[in-house]
Amino acid sequence: MTMISINDIYQNKVLINNTIAIFGWIRNRRDSKSGFSFIDIYDGSCVHTIQVIVNKSILNYKSEVLKLTIGCSVCVTGILILSIGKKQKYEIQVLKIQILGWVDHPSHYPVSAKKHTYEYLRDIPHLRSRTNFIGVITRIRNHIFHALHQFLYKNNYYWIPTPIITSLNSEGAGEMFRVSTLDMKNIPLNNYGLVDFKKDFFGKECFLTVSGQLTAEAYACSMTKVYTFGPTFRAENSNTTRHLSEFWMLEIEQAFSNLEDIIVLSEIIIKYVIKFVLECCKHDINFLYNYIDKNIFNRLYTFLYSKIIHLNYIDAIKILINSKKKFNYPVHFGIDLSSEHEKYLVDNYFKSSIIIKNYPKNIKAFYMRLNDDNNTVSAMDLLVPGIGEILGGSQREERQVVLESRLSELNLKKEDYSWYIDLRRYGSVPHSGFGLGFERLISYITGVKNIRDLIPFPRIVNHALC
Ligand code: 4AD
Ligand code: MG
Repeated sequence: MTMISINDIYQNKVLINNTIAIFGWIRNRRDSKSGFSFIDIYDGSCVHTIQVIVNKSILNYKSEVLKLTIGCSVCVTGILILSIGKKQKYEIQVLKIQILGWVDHPSHYPVSAKKHTYEYLRDIPHLRSRTNFIGVITRIRNHIFHALHQFLYKNNYYWIPTPIITSLNSEGAGEMFRVSTLDMKNIPLNNYGLVDFKKDFFGKECFLTVSGQLTAEAYACSMTKVYTFGPTFRAENSNTTRHLSEFWMLEIEQAFSNLEDIIVLSEIIIKYVIKFVLECCKHDINFLYNYIDKNIFNRLYTFLYSKIIHLNYIDAIKILINSKKKFNYPVHFGIDLSSEHEKYLVDNYFKSSIIIKNYPKNIKAFYMRLNDDNNTVSAMDLLVPGIGEILGGSQREERQVVLESRLSELNLKKEDYSWYIDLRRYGSVPHSGFGLGFERLISYITGVKNIRDLIPFPRIVNHALC
């Protein structure tokens, strides 16, 4: 007898009439007057539960089975049969049921059978994966993660684990989380009365990374095609449905490549992931269609079978100005597009995903390649309906002189970036890359609006449970 998952059963990997053991948690129990109990069990392996039927002749029927409540954990041994009931395809005739864990005070069980709000569930992140909804999201998230790695592996990109602790703010914007072992109650000061970071753990100021890009570039400039995929941290006080303080980002970096190359790549990789999910997560996607988002198939197939519209920043600005709409942030050349502008362009004007490129240099990071007009940089953002930006990238400035002058324009110290400048001193090559916000991609694919529901333990300002 082997231990099998509920998904194995639904994948027809188990023969009917076989004796099997399954392990899981109770979602529901009903007792019939004729001395049977029907118990639905889940184990996280798929969206389905399996119904097990316990006869009163089972030894612990009265003493234990009739006391089982939602959330209890059990090991069930029994015979797999085809169900005659309409609601389920399979069921298990129980030979033995062993209770592994009881639920304290069942009437106070935090994830009872009733429907809970997203907000309520966010306050119990350690228990919310027991709901069907978070189970679905967890499996889809896993598949998207896998699809991205699979695409990159198949296409000969090397995975580079870039550092999480860093001394540089690569984006030059947004607050960083400090990493320090200094005694906060007795901070050492230097001769100028300033904090003496020489006494800190690394002998200098360090932070949690906002992006692995700069160090990924170092590897692209020798390995040609690389990527990094990990958590990134931003201490911005943005209390929105699309911002987290700790989020995951896939960053691809490739040598001998320009802006157009990564624009093409960004579209291919997202289409690959969508296809993968539609193929591998059918039941989970159906659950989302039934309970969360009736537009899910339409959205995903539209993305798959249409070409993303590309336009220059300047043309996006013209469209916004010509719209005559009253935006909270007035529109003119040089502004950073805010979410209301993105929304108008994507949801109202184009009604489609778009890529905006060639942004003014003043609103973008120092590393982006300066265009010949000396005013814009070779940057791109991918905006999708309902969310806005999910991916941003650029061709990197490979010319040492231009890079150094951009650093000084932005009052960034050349010494801090000396290793990064080295990459331009020793066999510099044109190269480009992008960062894809993992939770934002999941939001786009699943139709779940708030990315706090798409990462197991969300971190946002004033909120870091578990
Ligand atoms: O546009 P960003 O800031 O770009 C970078 O960090 C570059 N270094 C990427 C690169 O070229 N390698 O961030 C990239 C993406 C955004 O498009 C967005 O999808 C996501 O990361 N993102 C966030 N996701 C959740 N919460 C936040 N606070 C996010 N900030 C950015
Ligand atoms: Mg961006």
